[in-house]
Amino acid sequence: MRKNIVAGNWKMNTTLAEGVNLAKDVNEALKGFTPNCDVVIGVPFTHLASVNAVIDATKLGLGAENCADHKSGAYTGEVSAAMVASTGATYVILGHSERRQYYGETSEILKEKVALALENNLTPIFCIGEVLEERENGSYLEVVKTQIEEALFEMSAEDFSKLILAYEPVWAIGTGKTATDDQAEEMHAFIRNVIAEKYGNEVAENTSILYGGSCKPSNAPQLFAKPNVDGGLIGGASLDAESFMGIVKAF
Ligand code: PGA
Repeated sequence: MRKNIVAGNWKMNTTLAEGVNLAKDVNEALKGFTPNCDVVIGVPFTHLASVNAVIDATKLGLGAENCADHKSGAYTGEVSAAMVASTGATYVILGHSERRQYYGETSEILKEKVALALENNLTPIFCIGEVLEERENGSYLEVVKTQIEEALFEMSAEDFSKLILAYEPVWAIGTGKTATDDQAEEMHAFIRNVIAEKYGNEVAENTSILYGGSCKPSNAPQLFAKPNVDGGLIGGASLDAESFMGIVKAF
C-alpha cells in the first residue's frame, strides 16, 4: 500500500546554522513517537551534509530541492544528482512551480532530472499544478494531465513506481489560499486515474500523491482525511518545527 508522507520544502530560507538547528528540532520532536507517516525535509544544497549529520535517518528523510539535468562536467553552479546522493540525501524535489516559472524548467528538462535522480537512487518528489487562470477557465485537469504525460510517461512502470507526486496548485502556494479538501480530492483522484490508465491500477494505488499549497496544522487534518490525499509538501509551515510537527500529527 502507498505511504503517507509529510515533506518540508524549506526553499531559499535559513542560513546553515539556522537550518541545522531547525533539522535538530524536527529530529528531536520525532524521538519517542512514531508518526503515521514518513517525514522528510527538503533543504538547500548547502545544508545537506550538515543536516544529514544531525538527523536520525530511520525517522527523518532528507532531500534536496532540485538537481541538475546533466550528469557532471562544465555546468558552473549546478549540483548533480550524484552530488546530492553523496551527502546522504535520499529524496529530491523536482519540477516545483517556482523552478518551472522562474528558471524555465520544461518537461524535457525535468525528464532528464528525474532519470538522473533515479540513477542515483534518489526518490523524486515530482510537483505538478495549475496556475490560477487555468483553475478559473476550467482547464486545470487537462493541464496537470499534460504535465504528467510529458515529463513522466516515457518511464517504465518499474521506474514510475519509485516516484512521489505532489499536486501543488500554484495559486495556493505561499498565498494563504488553500485548495479546499474537495478541490484537492478531485485532482488527486483524477491524477490516480491518469496513472491507472497508463500503468494499471496497482501502480496507481501504490503511488503517494501529496498536496501542497498553504498547508498548515489547522487545515491538514481535513485535507489528509481525503482518500486520495496521501500527505503534504509543506513550504512556509515547515520552517517552524512546531507547525511542521503539527502537520505530521494530522495523520
Ligand atoms: P507553501 O509552499 O506551503 O508555503 O504554500 C508549498 C510549496 O511550495 O511546496
